[in-house]
Amino acid sequence: MQHVKRTLVTTALPYANGPVHLGHLAGVYLPADIYVRYKRMKGEDVIHIGGSDEHGVPITITAEKEGISPQDVVDRYHRMNSEAFRKCGISFDYYGRTSSQGHHDTAKEFFLEIEKKGIFRRKTEKQFFDATAGRFLSDRYVTGTCPICGNLEANGDQCEQCGTHLSPTELLNPKSKLSDAIPELRETMHWYFPLGRFQKALEEYVDLHDLQKIFTENFEKEQYSVWRPNVVNYTRTWLKQGLNDRAITRDLSWGIELPISDPEACGKVLYVWFDAVLGYISFTRQWAVETGDESLWRAYWQDPESRIVNFIGKDNVVFHTLMFPAILMAWNEGREHGIYNLADNVPASEFMNFEGRKFSKSRNYAVYLGEFLEKFPADTLRYSIAMNYPENKDTDFSWQDFQNRTNGELADTLGNFIKRSIDFTNARFDGVVPFDCPRDVMRDFTVLLSYDTGAEIDELGDRVTLDDLIDEIGQAYDCFHFREAVSKTMDIARRANRFLTQNEPWKQIKTDRDTAAKIMSVSLNLCNSLSLLFYPIIPETCNKIRSMLGCQTIEQLREELKSGESIWEMAKNPSLSKGHKLKGTSEILFTKIEDKDIEPELKKIEQLLAEAEKREAGAAVEHTIFKPVIGFDEFQKVDLRAATVISAEKVQKAAKLLKLLLKVGTETRQVLAGIAQHYSPEEMVGKQVVLVANLAERTIRGEVSQGMILAVEGADGRLCVVEPVGDEINGQQIQ
Ligand code: MF3
Ligand code: ZN
Repeated sequence: MQHVKRTLVTTALPYANGPVHLGHLAGVYLPADIYVRYKRMKGEDVIHIGGSDEHGVPITITAEKEGISPQDVVDRYHRMNSEAFRKCGISFDYYGRTSSQGHHDTAKEFFLEIEKKGIFRRKTEKQFFDATAGRFLSDRYVTGTCPICGNLEANGDQCEQCGTHLSPTELLNPKSKLSDAIPELRETMHWYFPLGRFQKALEEYVDLHDLQKIFTENFEKEQYSVWRPNVVNYTRTWLKQGLNDRAITRDLSWGIELPISDPEACGKVLYVWFDAVLGYISFTRQWAVETGDESLWRAYWQDPESRIVNFIGKDNVVFHTLMFPAILMAWNEGREHGIYNLADNVPASEFMNFEGRKFSKSRNYAVYLGEFLEKFPADTLRYSIAMNYPENKDTDFSWQDFQNRTNGELADTLGNFIKRSIDFTNARFDGVVPFDCPRDVMRDFTVLLSYDTGAEIDELGDRVTLDDLIDEIGQAYDCFHFREAVSKTMDIARRANRFLTQNEPWKQIKTDRDTAAKIMSVSLNLCNSLSLLFYPIIPETCNKIRSMLGCQTIEQLREELKSGESIWEMAKNPSLSKGHKLKGTSEILFTKIEDKDIEPELKKIEQLLAEAEKREAGAAVEHTIFKPVIGFDEFQKVDLRAATVISAEKVQKAAKLLKLLLKVGTETRQVLAGIAQHYSPEEMVGKQVVLVANLAERTIRGEVSQGMILAVEGADGRLCVVEPVGDEINGQQIQ
């Protein structure tokens, strides 16, 4: 891996307009924290910067609704959210606020620099004005009927029902939210940022991180610098349409005032997105001041050997891959010093849903982090959520899932292994490690495990060693594959648990004390390894385990870490030698979750769903919502063919997949279809199906899939394969 001097990790600044919920945690803050903890263990120089986004219209709307000031609103939620993050173990190095003086100064500095260079454009345009309230109405203050889906309560910037981005003048029957008055169009002047001026530079920037480009142009790039496909796709969609000028000022009173005395600037503030992204910089500056070295922030932002990673949700992508980089490019233009680095990676998550539904603050369907932590411990939440990390697709989290993972995985697997190891050592070896566990025994523990169960070797593919697994986990973290990393970590605990069960020291000790001692020394050292490997995920528990083992906390280890050393690597070596004393009795690491503990929560969900349904039933008509329009040419690119299923079989360990062999014209194709729960292989053979014939090949579970077949979901959730009817249609194009 190429040498990275420092890493600056940032997390999207949550609006201080409501409490953060589990969806936010899953997509952004938890993965970032896990990543940062892992890097710290490796002895890398890394800082995690975050904070509250305290401007923006929704905050003023909340304030008006409650009859308090916007400052009161952001004070409340800043406190609430930073407290919830603290309780959840999200280890920010600095958690700032965009209402702070320091942040205002930084944002003004950027505005002035770009203004001075003459990059902004000023444009006069017509905008809705509420004559009753005497105010210009920003997008969010206008509501009306969505021209696309007919929703009567669409917002001026977006329709929540169909997701279409709108501008207020597109609404039918627009109304002011301030007074219900019909707004009138009046002229107002705004500053625009000419994104198009940076089009080419932005394209080059994206190319550098786009796997396909890297591959075809032979760029030298580390894996961890490659952007996820969703990030590249969202960004490219914008680039393809051509980048337009974006207004970066608003007629509002809450926000950052323009730092110029121009009468035109009066009553205007910076657009919230222009200022928010700069929060990453201003907060790093504030962090540096706190460390006592005011200029330290430059090392993270301006040293070309440093690296920046922005964790965000998918709705924030273009602000981070186009807007923010363009602002930095504008700053950097013509400079020799003080040049800012652009982000190296922008891991954007998909969404984590809850009990089958999207979290929605406005629909009051959410589970808030702070509330959750009043009932259940942070580590159980961290683990369960990490296992549901929405990396490539939306995931679903449920109370049932939370209960299963806590009981079955944390308590019965990890907790049980640690407890048995410590209790048995206390009972039979006076709480002392009874044997020097040799490094190679430790390394070969998976081999030991796979002796009797053939199935298990199968599962492993090749035999893996602890070292290999640890390296794989590290690699997964480096490349932001959090679910893989966490499940592989639990895999080690599972093997360790089985190792103890299969070797039965409680029986051995009756006849062969030495063997029992050996087994326990391996087990205890595995406890030690697990206490390190699980630390990014469940830090509090890991320190508890370490305390029971009579070992220093991870934080203490870090303090003593010499340069070049890695706590992560220590997990490969046995470090509890013969004679090491454990601390005494074991404590219970995870309390099991009983049905009665989650019953009230399930009831609450039921209620919320019922309310949502009522609201939806009350809505005038249920509209069918279509994907955005595409041109005929674009559609023509899809090659649909009639094909015939020649054979079908189940795919091992993939409950949903059938492997189909299709005849299509003169060719045979293998396709993996997610229909195994709806069709038996026998039912499929002989069927005519529709094949998407020019889809790029994919490998799923080690099998290639050369296309896709079409199916439709019925109201009961059952999939029906689309079957074209006709004589001798095999191989024919469907058009
Ligand atoms: N507050 C925004 C949101 O929650 C995110 C801001 S990210 C930043 O969607 F980079 F602009 F800070
Ligand atoms: Zn709509």
